[in-house]
Amino acid sequence: MAITTCIFDAYGTLFDVAAAARQAASEPGQEGWAAKWPDLASQWRLKQLQYTWLRAITGAHTDFWDVTADGLDWALEACGLDGDDALRQRLLDLYWELQAYDEVPAMLQRLKEAGLNTAILSNGSPNMLNGAVSSAGIGAYLDDVLSVQDVGVFKPDSRVYDMVGARFDCARQEVLFVSSNGWDAAGATGYGFVTAWVNRAGEPMDRLPWTPANILRDLTRIPEIAGA
Ligand code: LAC
Repeated sequence: MAITTCIFDAYGTLFDVAAAARQAASEPGQEGWAAKWPDLASQWRLKQLQYTWLRAITGAHTDFWDVTADGLDWALEACGLDGDDALRQRLLDLYWELQAYDEVPAMLQRLKEAGLNTAILSNGSPNMLNGAVSSAGIGAYLDDVLSVQDVGVFKPDSRVYDMVGARFDCARQEVLFVSSNGWDAAGATGYGFVTAWVNRAGEPMDRLPWTPANILRDLTRIPEIAGA
């Protein structure tokens, strides 16, 4: 079945989640902790995601902004940086204007020119996602920005993936779902989407029952895989 609809995870897939810590560390006066930025970024991201999974399985949903701040507080303490309120605030502010990866605008433009549906499907709250989309200047290439806020549970709960068929009136096999998160690509594969895992860091494959159909180093081949 031909692909009609390309759906993208947001954080880590279109937007570089490490950019906030990298940018903050490069600013004047931050030399004291700057060398720790990769560790801070990775602990922040990991805790943020763990909190989404734990909240999903316990039915304790909250706004993605809350788990983003909670994950940051845990990571700051783990890195010995708790108590630096200015740093905390700067990192949170930067999360609203994350850079998109370089290849994103041209890739989305090509999908749109080929007449495919395009959208984000993200744990992010609508406000966060709108901030990132507008700061990356990619709103014109997206038909919609779908947030889990509408179903009140985080990925990989199937109610999140159900939002795609409800919005675009398409079969699961017509959807190319793209994520840099191995667990998200696996979950979407189990759901029945055609999937692409964007494995920029060359990480090992997640040991889960579902293997993504495509494994890529970046997003440049997405139009080709989608038949655009
Ligand atoms: C998202 C997270 C999982 O955008 O990256 O949904």
